[in-house]
Amino acid sequence: MTAQRVAFVTGGAQGIGRAIAARLAEDGFHVMVADLQARAAEQAANEIAASGGKAEGIGLDIRDRAAVSAAFDRLPRIDVAVNNAGIFTDRPFFELTEQDFDLAHQVNVVGLFIVAQEAARRMEEGGRIINIASRAFLGARGHAHYVASKAAVVGLTRAMAIELAARGISVNAVAPGLIDTPILRALSEERMKYQLSLQPTGKAGQPEDIANAVAFFAAPRTGFVTGQTLLVDGGKSLGGGMGL
Ligand SMILES: NC(=O)c1ccc[n+]([C@@H]2O[C@H](COP(=O)([O-])OP(=O)(O)OC[C@H]3O[C@@H](n4cnc5c(N)ncnc54)[C@H](O)[C@@H]3O)[C@@H](O)[C@H]2O)c1
Repeated sequence: MTAQRVAFVTGGAQGIGRAIAARLAEDGFHVMVADLQARAAEQAANEIAASGGKAEGIGLDIRDRAAVSAAFDRLPRIDVAVNNAGIFTDRPFFELTEQDFDLAHQVNVVGLFIVAQEAARRMEEGGRIINIASRAFLGARGHAHYVASKAAVVGLTRAMAIELAARGISVNAVAPGLIDTPILRALSEERMKYQLSLQPTGKAGQPEDIANAVAFFAAPRTGFVTGQTLLVDGGKSLGGGMGL
């Protein structure tokens, strides 16, 4: 068994996941970049390797239990699983359908659960599970199905933290605010303007801002922190209206 610690990052081909994979490689992890987009996952891994890290890319749908299990079986060990893969669509309440809810739930919640369970089963020396939720779990306008799925991620994080503590596994979540990634293409120009108007910083964060928070939860000395959701949103969740 290799001594180098291994991290598994879902949705690591682009955006926030890609920054997380690069950061964990910098921190000394051997990183498995898993994403629906196989070629982009391999490319992300190649770039990490080119800058001196150790990484591999793999095509994976996190909803596919057998494929997730096989991906973990390829690894010599697993220390950190980052559940970052997620989908977002923007749709007003009266236009939402059951299908919107099903899809958000299958990817953002059930897929995350499958990866967490397969990872935890193999964390023989303890480990860390880090889930990417969203600031939206607090409530947001125009995507109730996404809000519901991310609130479920926060609940699942807390429940898993309790059940996995005895195995030496901590489970935490990072809840990003508006972060500059391809996912924001789902927002119209008008909706993007509206989102930025709610932002005390006046601008979106960068994927590295989220990677820094993930690195904290993955660090060797932070294992006693568990069940927490860390908001990384440039102050958006603070409200910031007039205090009247
Ligand atoms: N960007 C933001 O403003 C923001 C804000 C809050 C939360 N988030 C969350 O952060 C995470 C990453 O978002 P991002 O902005 O980097 O998005 P992104 O769309 O740029 O990247 C998401 C990645 O996940 C992959 N993916 C989607 N479904 C998958 C599946 N079934 N199996 C495997 N991979 C799959 C995609 O191929 C893509 O590479 C998501 O969970 C998202 O909900 C993002």
